[in-house]
Amino acid sequence: MILNASGCLDALTAPEVAREFDAFVTKTVTPLQREGNAPVRIAETDVGMLNSIGLANPGIDTFLADVLPRLLDLGPPVWVSVGGFAAAEYADLCARLERTDAAAIELNLSCPNVAAPEDEATAIVAAARAATGKPLFAKLSPALPDLPAVALAAAAAGADGLALVNTIRGLALDPATLRPRLGTAAGGLSGPALRPVALAAVHTCFRATGLPIVGMGGVETGAHALELIAAGASAVALGTVLFADPGAAARVREELAGEARQRGFADPLAARGVAHADLDGAPPGPVVRVADGARKRSAQVGLKV
Ligand SMILES: Cc1cc2nc3c(=O)[nH]c(=O)nc-3n(C[C@H](O)[C@H](O)[C@H](O)COP(=O)(O)O)c2cc1C
Repeated sequence: MILNASGCLDALTAPEVAREFDAFVTKTVTPLQREGNAPVRIAETDVGMLNSIGLANPGIDTFLADVLPRLLDLGPPVWVSVGGFAAAEYADLCARLERTDAAAIELNLSCPNVAAPEDEATAIVAAARAATGKPLFAKLSPALPDLPAVALAAAAAGADGLALVNTIRGLALDPATLRPRLGTAAGGLSGPALRPVALAAVHTCFRATGLPIVGMGGVETGAHALELIAAGASAVALGTVLFADPGAAARVREELAGEARQRGFADPLAARGVAHADLDGAPPGPVVRVADGARKRSAQVGLKV
């Protein structure tokens, strides 16, 4: 299954691109409209892209009234990414989405400056879980000091799956002036530099939680996607690559099938978790049993536990 990464594709401007995906993930929606950060908000570097969009979005009221109906009309199932500043805000966003045809909800938990990430994740996911029966995916930052502990906390609080990874903080300077190139100075780094970071995150969280994982971070080819699946992902999302190659979904899907076949796998998902096997032994697999509810809700959106 190939999805887009949140914030990297405007489906209403490029509907034919969005239809190439097995599900469309929205940009993160917040309770109130946000203008986002002052320009410059995007800067290319030699290892990826820096952005400081700042969660610009129309807010949940306009999103529900004007945006979501048009996204649902496009065809692919719509996953709505939500973000807030407190558990109650996430719960409210989920409650309002409960009455829509959104297929799943991604909780954008990638706040870089929280004091106790496990407690925070527990509070947000538990509040969201109480507000919705829809499949819930927790999207985490790879910069968390103990990522698998936060993933476990999210799982225990009722997350049905994980989305890994969000961007990591980076800074680019103008070579002539030696001043920051982004309006906010530092921003979120995405693209090729994130690939090994994403692989490590998926690998460790698969082991810790057994939950289905949407893997992302620098995926540009089918070989990159297969690596994330081998680390434990059940689906792969494309982000930064779409800015250079909007048709990447169809290409990566085809390459992925070929890369899997070449290695003797009947289909790409047959390679799920093989990075956890030693070279001549059976895969040790996840160390926990996934709750029945999570298993059922993940299957609902086509994701393998
Ligand atoms: C311009 C831009 C905007 C993004 N906006 C969001 C967002 O609104 N919510 C979110 O959870 N992630 C957002 N992300 C992060 C991506 O969804 C993804 O996690 C990250 O870019 C890593 O994947 P990639 O290397 O394939 O781009 C954004 C990334 C970029 C480049």
